[in-house]
Amino acid sequence: MNKIEKVYFDHNATTRVDDEVLEAMMPYFQNKFGNPSSGHNLGIAGRQAINHAREQVADSIEAQPSQVVFTSGGSEANNLFIQGATGHLKSTRIIVSAIEHPCVLRPAKELAQSTNKECGLRQLIVDRSGRIIMSDVDKALSEYRPNIVSVMLANNETGVIQEVANIAEKSRKLGALIHTDAIQAFGKIPVNFPSLNVHAMTLSSHKIYGPKGAAALIIDKELVLRPQIFGGGHEGGLRSGTENVPAIVGFGKACELSKLRMERTTIHVTRLRTHLEKRLIEMGAIIFGMNATRLPNTCYFALPDIEGETLVIHLERAGFLIASGAACSSAAPGKSHVLDAMGVEPILARCAVRLSLGNSNTLEQINEFISALTCTVKELKRISSVMI
Ligand SMILES: Cc1ncc(COP(=O)(O)O)c(C=O)c1O
Repeated sequence: MNKIEKVYFDHNATTRVDDEVLEAMMPYFQNKFGNPSSGHNLGIAGRQAINHAREQVADSIEAQPSQVVFTSGGSEANNLFIQGATGHLKSTRIIVSAIEHPCVLRPAKELAQSTNKECGLRQLIVDRSGRIIMSDVDKALSEYRPNIVSVMLANNETGVIQEVANIAEKSRKLGALIHTDAIQAFGKIPVNFPSLNVHAMTLSSHKIYGPKGAAALIIDKELVLRPQIFGGGHEGGLRSGTENVPAIVGFGKACELSKLRMERTTIHVTRLRTHLEKRLIEMGAIIFGMNATRLPNTCYFALPDIEGETLVIHLERAGFLIASGAACSSAAPGKSHVLDAMGVEPILARCAVRLSLGNSNTLEQINEFISALTCTVKELKRISSVMI
């Protein structure tokens, strides 16, 4: 391996834009740069490209194109649901899981703290494997009587997959609106909007080899949201602003490719992760969420007494890009709220690192990583014994 060229093991953070995606986007930067709201031919070309992308996104999750609302990113789409769904309500009772991404947790907490209207928040607890506890869902639904529920399909740190369809059925019975953040699951496991039975679902382009700057909120036809960006009435009036045509085109193409390649990618990354985890366990690693159903590409582990942040720095020097637990869900790293919710002792949580694999990774890279990790751990232990 050429040590200057780093091996990328951080696909849950973002992915490299696929060559075919980039090729599809290119004309919309220059030759076809028109504003999709313009009535002339250049504008019409832009509008047609957006319509085509809307069909590609809808097709990949078995929804209708009219259900796709394009946004600038997953964070915006999650905010659009939380703030848009509560915007019409006089009093709001929200239930979210304790392990949601900050772009669901923060708007929910902001609303709960707002003094303008009656609003409350209840967080669902998870077990030691990172699964939402279903008896707590039943308890929360019956005691708290929410009108909004949001539960992620797969967690970005652990990769643990949640029982969203089951939670959706229970929530609907009580008349609550249910949303799922499917950003990490999408492209890694089949995601089917009708079978999840939710009112709204979030997808993001840059996690599936598409560009940054495009995402979508998929909405049920009966869902009424309060617009979050007022202006010219784009995207059904829900978020005004001239569309990011190249990014939307790239997102559509990435959805099409992800559907075609998913099976092959799943087999590939499962094989790599099985090998990786076998070797990590031999080294004494603790793998978070190991007993739960997880995304096939995600491995979140800790080597006791080896600090995650330190490991990340040393492994980057050795040619490998990975994430520390603290940096997995936020631009302002601190401790992981996910491991905290799972009841992981803070001293072990500090050792957490995540490898998230993608379609370009190889078995050779995994073997090289294990060798580098073994050397790094040996070196760190030597330094710490000298310091003591
Ligand atoms: C589960 C989850 N939700 C939301 C987001 C935010 O998405 P975006 O980066 O598109 O704003 C991320 C990104 O890491 C994520 O993993």
